[in-house]
Amino acid sequence: MDLIPGCLLVMLLLSTLVLGHRPLERSHSLSVVTMVPLLELERKLIDNLENYTKALEQKLEIIRSQITVMRAENEKGGRNAIPYLSNPLNGFSLIRRLHVDWIKWGKYMEQPVGISQIKAFGSWKNELPTQLDLWDACAGIVRIQSLYNLKIADFIDGCIHGKQYNVSMSAADMFSVGHHLAMKNVSSGAVQWLQEVPQRLQKELPSIPRHLLIAEVDVLRLLAEAHFKEKNYSKALPLLHNCLKLQPHDARVLRLWKSTKDLIENEPNPTPQENKEQKVPIVNTFKTSCNGLLEKPTRLHCFYNFTTTPFLRLAPLKTEQIGLKPYVVLYHEVLSAREISMLMGKAAQNMKNTRVQSEKAVNTNRERTAKGYWLKKESNEMTRRITRRIVDMTGFDLADSEDFQVINYGIGGHYSLHFDYFGFASSNYTGERSHHSIVLGDRIATVLFYLTDVEQGGATVFGNVGYSVYPQAGTAIFWYNLDTDGNGDPLTRHASCPVVVGSKWVMTEWIHEARQIFIRPCLPPAKGTSTKS
Ligand SMILES: *[C@@H]1O[C@H](CO)[C@@H](O)[C@H](O)[C@H]1NC(C)=O
Ligand SMILES: *[C@@H]1O[C@H](CO)[C@@H](O)[C@H](O)[C@H]1NC(C)=O
Ligand SMILES: *[C@@H]1O[C@H](CO)[C@@H](O)[C@H](O)[C@H]1NC(C)=O
Ligand SMILES: *[C@@H]1O[C@H](CO)[C@@H](O)[C@H](O)[C@H]1NC(C)=O
Ligand SMILES: *[C@@H]1O[C@H](CO)[C@@H](O)[C@H](O)[C@H]1NC(C)=O
Ligand SMILES: *[C@@H]1O[C@H](CO)[C@@H](O)[C@H](O)[C@H]1NC(C)=O
Repeated sequence: MDLIPGCLLVMLLLSTLVLGHRPLERSHSLSVVTMVPLLELERKLIDNLENYTKALEQKLEIIRSQITVMRAENEKGGRNAIPYLSNPLNGFSLIRRLHVDWIKWGKYMEQPVGISQIKAFGSWKNELPTQLDLWDACAGIVRIQSLYNLKIADFIDGCIHGKQYNVSMSAADMFSVGHHLAMKNVSSGAVQWLQEVPQRLQKELPSIPRHLLIAEVDVLRLLAEAHFKEKNYSKALPLLHNCLKLQPHDARVLRLWKSTKDLIENEPNPTPQENKEQKVPIVNTFKTSCNGLLEKPTRLHCFYNFTTTPFLRLAPLKTEQIGLKPYVVLYHEVLSAREISMLMGKAAQNMKNTRVQSEKAVNTNRERTAKGYWLKKESNEMTRRITRRIVDMTGFDLADSEDFQVINYGIGGHYSLHFDYFGFASSNYTGERSHHSIVLGDRIATVLFYLTDVEQGGATVFGNVGYSVYPQAGTAIFWYNLDTDGNGDPLTRHASCPVVVGSKWVMTEWIHEARQIFIRPCLPPAKGTSTKS
């Protein structure tokens, strides 16, 4: 599969968007750090709702206190009506109260409460996540669950990969995921999620206010439709029956019920369908790589690399070989905690302002779900020092290499299998070539720094050769994308597995070939070395 144009597109988009100032789609769930303001937004909404309760209470208090006073007067008369009304002051007051005061009470009852809070809510409405945000988040949850084969029954109770977290999904959470899958025509997935909903709904019934409850009939109908699409008619029928009990005149349900009944009568034992045209959203190699099911290279050795630059004789790099073909090494302790917090801090601020988001074409694929920020290598003394360190790590001249790209992944954030090179040298290359890219050449090598540990998931995997590297703050991996003739090495196809639990931050440095002609005459050194045992 050729992912090169996608790669180029993403790069171009990210760079134009960071420069551009047009209002961008926020896509909250694509980065953990940019979801932080949502908590602040929610806090404001809660404060506002609390103020609304205060306004309601104020009105209540006024009414309650007056009721006591009014009832006392009324009962004084009620106990002994004639003597009471015989006094003209009482009779007069009664008539005046009923003609004047009660009209005012009527008006007071009609007066809306908490107008300023309702207005304030209106002003924040535009900041709420959109349908697209919710769908991105649903897709992230589905990606985690399906890619790592998690049991849905465990996942919804916060048991993720055998670890119990103190959090669980509500019926509404689960319904959203099921609804999303149903809308995407992934009906077998929709069934798996939706069938868990009714039970949880029953449990929540006493504690959830009516206006927030999802309607049971909606759950049953969606579940029945999903079963129907799976040709599991005998499962669909009783559900539709229950729907009709709740909503006897729903034309859509009636139609479906009738065709289900007909189908069952005409074909009592339908052969269960194995989902032939069901789209599997993620390439299988990706799944097997992320689950560590590929054959791995045998453990290679670790050593200190003293040789790349003179500097390394004083401060050698702790190097661990990940594999020889393609040549991938892991450097330990190449970024300090201070450098990491500077890089993340700078990026986080700017991601918030620029909100990286891909355009429609890429958008719908969501090959890559993360947000990024391009940081100039000359930004400050620290970035210059990191640049010098990359020279030490790679031996390359970085004068023309790309800016650092600092990336943060979000819910189930991933980057499916791709190449970092464009393949300019290939006779097949059909993508665009800017003047800039001609001058710089293709991406000869990649350095990928890990800025955070990730609690679960988020490995970098090389699908063709079974390498996998788990993020560890301060480490970096390095590999060559091109062979010595400048051709892309297809074995470098790699991916970022979905993050399960954690906030994954990385920083990439792509090095271009033009300046390296005299630096790398004949690398990598491993000649025909097998990576297998
Ligand atoms: C709630 O009311 C308090 C006191 O009246 C006010 O200071 C605060 O700004 C209000 N909060 C919101 C979110 O409107
Ligand atoms: C789990 O969360 C609930 C509320 O969300 C809290 O009351 C409880 O103490 C937590 N339990 C643990 C073990 O942290
Ligand atoms: C789902 O299937 C229906 C009909 O089978 C089709 O009209 C619709 O476009 C499909 N939706 C998606 C997202 O594929
Ligand atoms: C039909 O439902 C049964 C029971 O839930 C399930 O085992 C089977 O896989 C379903 N068939 C299809 C095609 O989904
Ligand atoms: C040291 O690192 C450089 C750059 O990655 C590499 O070319 C060289 O082969 C390494 N030295 C050893 C002994 O592997
Ligand atoms: C050119 O493309 C064809 C088909 O996509 C492929 O089989 C072939 O290997 C490619 N050649 C090169 C040099 O990349």
